[in-house]
Amino acid sequence: MKNLIDKLYKTQTLEKDEFIYLLENYNKETSEYLFSLARALSGKYFGNEVYTRGLIEFTNYCKNDCYYCGIRRSNKNVNRYRLTKEEILSCCETGYELGFRTFVLQGGEDGAFTDKAMVDIVKSIREGYPDCAITLSFGEKSYDQYLKYYEAGANRYLLRHETADEAHYSALHPDSLSLENRKECLRNLKKIGYQVGTGFMVGSPYQTTKCLAEDLLFIKELSPQMVGIGPFIPHKDTPFGSFPAGSKDLTLFLIGILRLMIPNGLLPSTTALGTIDPKGREAGILAGANVLMPNLSPIGVRKKYELYDNKICTGEEAAECNVCLRNRVASVGYNIVEKRGDFIGFEE
Ligand code: 5AD
Ligand code: FES
Repeated sequence: MKNLIDKLYKTQTLEKDEFIYLLENYNKETSEYLFSLARALSGKYFGNEVYTRGLIEFTNYCKNDCYYCGIRRSNKNVNRYRLTKEEILSCCETGYELGFRTFVLQGGEDGAFTDKAMVDIVKSIREGYPDCAITLSFGEKSYDQYLKYYEAGANRYLLRHETADEAHYSALHPDSLSLENRKECLRNLKKIGYQVGTGFMVGSPYQTTKCLAEDLLFIKELSPQMVGIGPFIPHKDTPFGSFPAGSKDLTLFLIGILRLMIPNGLLPSTTALGTIDPKGREAGILAGANVLMPNLSPIGVRKKYELYDNKICTGEEAAECNVCLRNRVASVGYNIVEKRGDFIGFEE
């Protein structure tokens, strides 16, 4: 077990069977060993600095119908909303004052935000906040569309692959969505020059350790700058509403593995991890994560962007979360810093 972790530390990857063995046999002691190596690496590249990204959930309309997601098209209980450009810019203003130097525009796949509208929004943020990074995260688009947003001033794009196993992908999504297209989008984003983030849910329905090993090997091959993972959490109004949530320990173990695979990578300790355990985000940092993505959305819409049940921080003002997070991060010996937090060595 430890020899495999040592091998991963040295070579930054493992064979599929070796990943499966690790994922099926890890325990408290091996996890602690993995986390200590992971922390040594995050310490080497980032010291005790933790970066934050202000998340602006600008629309919960979505044309897709993913079986796990609370804002899927078929969920008629969702109160749908769209933020105006002015509201988005006002989130940025609040965020900048609170110390954020990255804004993430995240939303469902919503046709009402045309390319023209998105380009206009991105340009305005770019003009108003020249020292900030702009991250986009609103799903699958064509090469030309991604290029337009990039030319308007966006720097990064988040698009989790969700699962790298074909059969598993089909178990989580309707036929209109394909793993092949997802991968093509990720390759296009990289080609254009975005810093790219991918990722997956831990413990999603029908996931096996083989699926997870495939996720890790896909990530190795793609070589993204960011990887976001969090536990699957059921949402009551979805087809997966009665499946169990993913495991905190396995999520943490995977964060540790990802830190060893991408030593200088940007790895968030996610809100989903903080939702299944009150100290989940702190534990994520101690497992090798170095990014937090607090919510900057207007308080009135937060509860409407419920991808899963009981999402935390939906009743809190951005300023309250800011103070809370600073204390949480300090409690485990780290510091939130006011920096863009780009991937080290990345050139645009
Ligand atoms: N539980 C956990 N994560 C979820 N996501 C969507 N639905 C859920 C859920 N029920 C994740 C997906 C998506 C990201 C924005 O949120 O991985 O890419
Ligand atoms: Fe939102 Fe703690 S981070 S309340």
